[in-house]
Amino acid sequence: MDLFLRSKAHRSSGPLRKATPIAAPTHEPPVDDESRLSLLKVFRDSKDQQHPLLSIEIEDSLNQLIQERHQSARLASSGLNPTRSAIFVGPPGVGKTLTARWVAAKLGVPLYVLDLTAVMSSLLGRSGTNLRAALDFAKRSPCVLLLDEIDAIAKRRSDESDVGELKRLVTVILQEVDEWPVTGLLLAATNHPELIDSALWRRFDLVIEFKMPEPATVKAAVKRFLGPDLPLFARWIDVLTAAFAGKSFSDIERDIQRFRRALALGTGSDAELIQEFIKSRVVSLERQARIELAVMLAKESRLSQHSVSDITGVSRDTIRKYTADQVGSRSASRKRGAA
Ligand SMILES: Nc1ncnc2c1ncn2[C@@H]1O[C@H](COP(=O)(O)OP(=O)(O)OP(=O)(O)O)[C@@H](O)[C@H]1O
Ligand SMILES: [Mg+2]
Repeated sequence: MDLFLRSKAHRSSGPLRKATPIAAPTHEPPVDDESRLSLLKVFRDSKDQQHPLLSIEIEDSLNQLIQERHQSARLASSGLNPTRSAIFVGPPGVGKTLTARWVAAKLGVPLYVLDLTAVMSSLLGRSGTNLRAALDFAKRSPCVLLLDEIDAIAKRRSDESDVGELKRLVTVILQEVDEWPVTGLLLAATNHPELIDSALWRRFDLVIEFKMPEPATVKAAVKRFLGPDLPLFARWIDVLTAAFAGKSFSDIERDIQRFRRALALGTGSDAELIQEFIKSRVVSLERQARIELAVMLAKESRLSQHSVSDITGVSRDTIRKYTADQVGSRSASRKRGAA
């Protein structure tokens, strides 16, 4: 805490700082003067919050980041600081925001998420002041600050009327990433890395790349999102895993929630729900993935080959051929995987 305040005192004051309205100590996050919208969203998750499903690489990076914080004295004795800033990059719905919440919970500090809409919706010329107010508030106590969808600032730079304003925002952020106190952790997230200012990019201590889930993780996600309904859908797990290939966690969660609601209301049986879902999914699958799904359905669902063909659009001949020649098809798919 002490260290926190001291590092703040070293900050130089740029032109935008002078206008910062919140000089008085307060524990309420600042608001936009005009709209009264809060500039920061606050999350205080409990330490035993469920672990996000992450790749081993991301898990390792985050564990180190957390350990650096827990053992900062040890780092200090070697003249080192813990990682102060990191940027999460990756497609929508793969856990960037969720992971920021989880990291904050693990560190036992609140997560503040900068709400760019509130920052930008203000009177022209006040965005910089708002941004300063939000960042200054976050620097006052130990927390994780997330600049979510940070590309929104960069993206808006193409809009002529906003150019001056947005340039100033980027300048503020550049300065802050450089000077962020070691007791805080500054995170940013984006699914448009190509829009991020390269000067900003360089300033983050750590870049973590989130990817679409691997098949094994899709399976874990399907099971997790089924929750207490898992036994009801147990025989569909492999089929669902295959059908969700290439989907994000949030897409998988949304579809599974839909099944669970329908089942709870008695709108359809599990078999009907799954069949309808597969029908809608197969159109976007590659031919080989479609065949594999059809074969899996034929083997695991007790559906006739006729129905499977109906649902997947794969001919009965093809299904028969692959089911009869299971061993051959497995080694073929292994070869494809290796290629
Ligand atoms: N890795 C994951 N493990 C478990 N659940 C996940 C994971 N990723 C996403 N989810 C589910 O999807 C929801 C949305 O994820 P999140 O908001 O973290 O995605 P994001 O990567 O920040 O997406 P965006 O780029 O659109 O902001 C989460 O609240 C969670 O329910
Ligand atoms: Mg997000």
